Amino acid sequence: MYDKVKEAADFLRSKISAVPQVTVILGSGLSSLVSMLEDPLTLRTDEIPHWPRPTAPMHKGEISFGKLEGIDVALQRGRIHYYEGYPMSEVVFPVRVWGELGVKRYFATNAAGGVNRSLAPGDLVLVYDHINYMGNNPLIGPNELKWNVRFPDMTRAYVNSFSALVEKAALDAGVNLNKGVYAAFTGPSYETPAEIRMARTLGADVVGMSTVPEVIVANAMGMEAAVISCVSNYAAGITMQPLTEEEVLDAAKLVGDKLSRIFINTMRELRSHV
Ligand code: HPA
Repeated sequence: MYDKVKEAADFLRSKISAVPQVTVILGSGLSSLVSMLEDPLTLRTDEIPHWPRPTAPMHKGEISFGKLEGIDVALQRGRIHYYEGYPMSEVVFPVRVWGELGVKRYFATNAAGGVNRSLAPGDLVLVYDHINYMGNNPLIGPNELKWNVRFPDMTRAYVNSFSALVEKAALDAGVNLNKGVYAAFTGPSYETPAEIRMARTLGADVVGMSTVPEVIVANAMGMEAAVISCVSNYAAGITMQPLTEEEVLDAAKLVGDKLSRIFINTMRELRSHV
């Protein structure tokens, strides 16, 4: 895997003028930020050697490079989900490439179900910890010491100065940003009401099918991770309404503006801190 990741990273390096200071992963339906990039360069991920092809609807395989408020960023639209059938090593391939390229900050967004009863669709949650309920871990297998130690610490996987900047950026932008714990299930079926009760009992505030493997690898490789979950629906059993994919994608549109304001302010904050 090391050689494949290196080849992909070398390919990107040959195309871009500067290593991004931040990579932003835009989850389901959250691609509006791309139009705000200065001097954008967009690559299709199928041009990149060994990059897995996303199969999920609305997950376009594209990466745009450019500047946002003077900060070099990469906006990755489309991620690889475990439920698509890829092995974990492929799910986290993009994160490995960002790490190998020298990116230090990993900013992920996702759509999530609200487990905490005080959350409603359209709310944003800054993740401060996670519960990995996927029954798998992207670091299982032979360890590449060039990348990370065998047993990476996860105590401060989300508690870092980058997440603190995001929190301040939201406050300054007047956007309400809750804080919560993200529990990851594999999907692709949504959870049952009993599973959601369990997740709540275990301390989860939001639930989803992505991001956790990415953060494990980002953290292990020494990147600072910040994650915002966009609550797209009440988790199963709260209203007893059936969950649909349309609901998830519609809610993503609602939060686009709030997220954009947070992103812009985060880059402003970063410019004055770096
Ligand atoms: N569960 C799991 N993943 C999700 C949900 C949910 O309720 N909403 C959006 N992604």
